[in-house]
Amino acid sequence: MGPLAILGALHEEIADLLAAMDPGAAIHRVAMRDFHVGTLWGTPCVIALSRIGKVAAAATASIVIQEFKASRVIFTGLAGGLHEDVAVGDVVVASALMQHDMDARPLFGQHEIPLLGRERFDADPVLSARLLESAAQFARGHAGLTAGQRAQPPRVHHGLIATGDVFVNSNDHARELRQRLPDALCLEMEGGAMAQVCHEFGVPFAVLRVISDQADHAAKADFTDFLVNLARVYTAGILAPLLKS
Ligand code: ADE
Repeated sequence: MGPLAILGALHEEIADLLAAMDPGAAIHRVAMRDFHVGTLWGTPCVIALSRIGKVAAAATASIVIQEFKASRVIFTGLAGGLHEDVAVGDVVVASALMQHDMDARPLFGQHEIPLLGRERFDADPVLSARLLESAAQFARGHAGLTAGQRAQPPRVHHGLIATGDVFVNSNDHARELRQRLPDALCLEMEGGAMAQVCHEFGVPFAVLRVISDQADHAAKADFTDFLVNLARVYTAGILAPLLKS
């Protein structure tokens, strides 16, 4: 079986995973990206920084599948909370992903991926169930992690993630998206593109996101604070039990 690919859009989102790779990992440079090939807690992995956005995520997913023969792909990183049940510090594991900025009307339906005849891409249920289990285990041990120092541990959610080439940082935009996509839990900028590529190649995938902000007027400051202080704790903390099991 090919390696597990783990992708993130920003260095902080994968830094602790790279640091934890077992000795002997090799770096292959393809299309201006470094692909770290080796083992992570004993599991064969290829880890890469995709950079931000749908094109970057799609290119990186294609490379790990075609060049590195990845058998499964996990995208991890931060997201803006959209649903009212989702708070900063919570964890979201995707059940499915959609692209909220895809709109080829009147040629195709709103959000429909032209000529694929679908709006949503389902995450792999087995990989996602393992992520949910690891995230729940992590959450139980990490009350008070978030900036607001909530007494309660972070909650873990399973549901729709909406992807688009936009960092949402306005109350009006967030409200419009909430109305248009009432079941979307959070917003990010890569997962739906990676999901489409994996679907087209027939490779199972999952997406793990930690809520850094509420996609509102304070999103830039909240995102930056979370990225610098907490992103790395979550990613490695959640993936470690999954890979070690
Ligand atoms: N990732 C983290 N926060 C986000 C936001 N507000 N919009 C889009 N992607 C994000």
